[in-house]
Amino acid sequence: MRPSSLVVVANRLPVDDSVAPDGACEWRRSPGGLVSALHPLLRHKPAAWVGWAGGIGDAPALADIDGVRMRAVALSAEDVRDHYEGFANATLWPLFHDSVEQPSYHRRWWEGYQRVNRRFAEAAAEVAEPGAVVWVQDYHLQLVPGMLRELRPDVRIGFFLHVPFPPPELFMQLPRRAELLTGMLGADLIGFQRAQAAHNFAQLAAKLLDLPATDQRIVVGDRVVRVGAFPVSIDMAEMEALARRPDVVERARRWRGDLGDPQRVILSVDRMDYTKGIEQRLKAYSELLASGQVKVRDTVMVQVAVRSRERVGQYQILRERVEREVGRINGEFGRVGEPAIHYLNHPFDRAELAALYRVADIMAVTPLRDGMNLVAKEYVAARVDGDGVLVLSEFAGTAAEFTRAFLVNPHDLEGLKQTLTQALRATPADATDRMRAMRDHLRTHDIRHWAHLYLTALDDTGSLAARLT
Ligand code: UDP
Ligand code: G6P
Repeated sequence: MRPSSLVVVANRLPVDDSVAPDGACEWRRSPGGLVSALHPLLRHKPAAWVGWAGGIGDAPALADIDGVRMRAVALSAEDVRDHYEGFANATLWPLFHDSVEQPSYHRRWWEGYQRVNRRFAEAAAEVAEPGAVVWVQDYHLQLVPGMLRELRPDVRIGFFLHVPFPPPELFMQLPRRAELLTGMLGADLIGFQRAQAAHNFAQLAAKLLDLPATDQRIVVGDRVVRVGAFPVSIDMAEMEALARRPDVVERARRWRGDLGDPQRVILSVDRMDYTKGIEQRLKAYSELLASGQVKVRDTVMVQVAVRSRERVGQYQILRERVEREVGRINGEFGRVGEPAIHYLNHPFDRAELAALYRVADIMAVTPLRDGMNLVAKEYVAARVDGDGVLVLSEFAGTAAEFTRAFLVNPHDLEGLKQTLTQALRATPADATDRMRAMRDHLRTHDIRHWAHLYLTALDDTGSLAARLT
């Protein structure tokens, strides 16, 4: 592979190596906000994407797929178990999301995390041209900036964390906390979703490593590491164009009919993840049905909960609980041909999602904690007619930008019920007014704005940002 001037390093490649029903290998876009954000940026650009294709064993030889130059990193079964399922998704993920589930710590997972981070750093070092910018993404790869600096002192290194960065009291629970922090500090610029996360990080650097630190700058030996908040976003124009496509409009019309043409459709779209507040939302909905405030004939709920990280125990337990609860609610409140909740756990492609967003009068995005939540932004982008109501958790990063959404604390069951009821009763004038404010904000804060802000901060000559955004 020829060297690139910009290298993005992320655990996930934007395509997933999945097996088609006939046994053939097929490439599908992988799920999650990181891929949704970065994919439209890197398409047809002089950039390489280093990542894992989701399988076990040899790295597939990938050239360009969909206009993105890809370099796959091979992971063995042990690597996947210790790095991806273990340290990344059973230690760091819960810890960084307020410990809403208990994080687990195992020495073997930490060893796997180090091993896999080294492999990513080596792959990035291989494909970066002299003086390139290497942009490392997310909690799976926190050691890569430090490792890469040793391998390639000539490159400029950025790190961006897509998930929240916890307050020092939580982070201090980590047995290998100092090493993780030192790894991140190998970067020239460390970006977070929110100012609070940057603040948490700077406080930790001062407390744990005794470094001179403000919320903007941390001094590490003779280097200054810059720190800041860069809220990630979506390609608004792409989602708007999809939502306007005649086949998408037609599909939305058909789906509304399939749902029984109810007065109101409430939609939620999540990965099946305990941070997303799915159980709390189902409980609130069930109580609204039980009290008669919501009637199945008038209102239909659609819950997409895409299967995710299925070999991690907490995710298996969650799926069982959610499916049991959906079954109970449908058994109790549904009628023949009229379920109270339409539950779907398979992935939807972009056009299908755009159609779903068009169908939804109310979008309920109520995570217990979320770095950003791009589904909320996609919904706003897809409402090209300017209507639709967004119910949004105040614990999603998005809430700092969409202050005109119906904001809610998802831990407060009564509050959740009340906000859902208010959303169902919102007047068209109020809904349009709120939606206009959110769409105006999104238009000036889309994914190109994010990349431009980050890359100009990282490369102050501005040449990289000019080529990419
Ligand atoms: N998504 C998708 N197909 C689905 C469900 C979700 O492509 O069936 C995408 C969705 O459009 C969004 C991303 O996955 O862009 C989820 O990002 P978000 O920030 O909301 O949460 P994350 O999954 O990253 O925690
Ligand atoms: C979140 C993480 C991403 C991750 C995505 C999907 O958005 O921040 O790094 O790619 O979830 O999760 P998965 O485990 O399928 O990669």
